[in-house]
Amino acid sequence: MKQLIVYFSRVGENSVNGQIEVIEKGYTEILAEKIQKITGAEMWKLEPEEPYPFNYQECVKRANSEGWVKYFNKIESLDEYDVIFLGFPNWYRSYPRIVATFIKDHNFFGKVIVPFCTNEEGAMGFAESELKSSAKGAIVKTGFACRGYDAEKSDEALKAWLGKVL
Ligand SMILES: Cc1cc2nc3c(=O)[nH]c(=O)nc-3n(C[C@H](O)[C@H](O)[C@H](O)COP(=O)(O)O)c2cc1C
Repeated sequence: MKQLIVYFSRVGENSVNGQIEVIEKGYTEILAEKIQKITGAEMWKLEPEEPYPFNYQECVKRANSEGWVKYFNKIESLDEYDVIFLGFPNWYRSYPRIVATFIKDHNFFGKVIVPFCTNEEGAMGFAESELKSSAKGAIVKTGFACRGYDAEKSDEALKAWLGKVL
């Protein structure tokens, strides 16, 4: 069973507990690396061709109005993978449009998608239901969601969740 972790995560100013803070390592990236350590899966970071602004308000403005997002394409094909861990921050109660674009661009038929997400307070929002309707033919497992600032201390919770979903 070949596994791949695909994730998007942003550094720069972010709202943490309602305060603007500079994040040097994205919270979702912290989860992705922990999942990588536990599972040994390959890992691929989704990088937008046009980076998101460092400034939080500017990022919010762009995220609020963007459609499909161009990203650097490093994966030739998902064919060889059976399980895709898909990681993202909760943006507007679902996954960011760069993740939506990645889903649109690939064929998930017969694959297992295991979502994971960090957020400020809204857990996974409606990301799981959006995933189920966009990734046609995929089996979408129950995802893992935690607050961004809890990502660093999520090892035990991640292990327990992985034990259930895999
Ligand atoms: C554009 C934007 C929209 C966001 N929308 C939400 C939201 O609807 N609900 C929520 O709980 N958090 C929201 N957040 C907070 C992020 O989900 C949270 O900070 C996350 O942990 C960031 O992950 P990252 O460091 O991997 O990018 C938003 C953040 C940004 C930048």
